[in-house]
Amino acid sequence: MVGAVLVQGDRILAEGWHHRTGSAHAERDCLARFGDSPVPDDAVLYVNLEPCAHHGRTPPCADLIIERGVQHVVVAQRDPFPEVNGQGIERLKRAGIEVTEGVLAFEARWMNRRFLTSVTRQRPYIVLKWAQSADGFLNDHGRSARISSVETDVLVHRWRSEEQAILVGSRTALSDDPRLDVRHVQGRSPLRVLLDRKGITPKGAKLFDGSLPTLLFTSANRPVVGAEQMVVESGSDPIEAILTELNRRSIRSLLIEGGAELLMHFLRTGNWNEARVITSASALNGGTKAPRVPAPACRIASSSTDSIAYHINASHQTEPLAAWLW
Ligand SMILES: NC(=O)c1ccc[n+]([C@@H]2O[C@H](COP(=O)([O-])OP(=O)(O)OC[C@H]3O[C@@H](n4cnc5c(N)ncnc54)[C@H](OP(=O)(O)O)[C@@H]3O)[C@@H](O)[C@H]2O)c1
Repeated sequence: MVGAVLVQGDRILAEGWHHRTGSAHAERDCLARFGDSPVPDDAVLYVNLEPCAHHGRTPPCADLIIERGVQHVVVAQRDPFPEVNGQGIERLKRAGIEVTEGVLAFEARWMNRRFLTSVTRQRPYIVLKWAQSADGFLNDHGRSARISSVETDVLVHRWRSEEQAILVGSRTALSDDPRLDVRHVQGRSPLRVLLDRKGITPKGAKLFDGSLPTLLFTSANRPVVGAEQMVVESGSDPIEAILTELNRRSIRSLLIEGGAELLMHFLRTGNWNEARVITSASALNGGTKAPRVPAPACRIASSSTDSIAYHINASHQTEPLAAWLW
């Protein structure tokens, strides 16, 4: 997500943004909207990501900024993409343009945390989510239990719509038969991903109903329709296989909705960025133990690669949920 604003004094001259992959970058969009007249000498171009210096799907923005005579550029954060990574800023400076870096850098990193994680770690940004009872159980003595509230259901569907893929474990698919789609809010449903090497999920499961694409990680191809299958070689790490494949498909974010064992594998290997834990007010007095978020996960991140845990009370129906929904 990249935006650019051309400012003179306290007046906005033009704004632009990167509308979609392959379309004009934010700086180009902004300068096109500004029009053909010369850019005033005292105008400043603000952009949240370093202008590019390479010929990708569009020509380099750094060259355009130089051509248009912009004298001062404020950049919130460098682009870690290997073909840019400081070279855009360098090119502007060599052309005599004043460059100010690091303004609102934290906000810029947070906004683009999915992209930044994907580029720097070669895997999607990972959000773990589960709902637990007040005494820390995921289900009621092995049987599915209603832990969340109507409000958190809406919230979770919002979260689904914000990520590109969603993963569950085989025992969750077997016991809950989830659809993993987006129904309670308007938005795109993510790619459904299932890890089930032994093939315990029934052929008639909703994940195989063909209503949405499903990617099944299995140890041997199964005669299921409605799922694309990827074989995990025996002895290899299934999490590694999933993350490598999603990265190969340029999927930049993954929401993991359980169960406990699958979540624990991600927590143990440190392969996660956010844990969103919904806790109900009532106890279940037994069942599958919810995962524990390891210290020192904290509520406020100091960089986009820190892991953060959010604790959400299922019975809080207003203020904390409203914050998320906005
Ligand atoms: N309250 C909640 O938020 C919530 C959410 C989801 C589920 N649940 C409940 O949780 C229960 C299921 O949880 P569960 O812990 O029993 O099972 P689960 O996590 O759903 O399934 C176990 C998963 O662990 C995977 N696994 C096994 N060995 C692994 C390894 N070495 N590396 C990575 N992954 C590995 C399995 O893959 P293979 O099958 O390929 O071996 C399988 O996908 C159900 O009762 C469900 O209702 C609750």
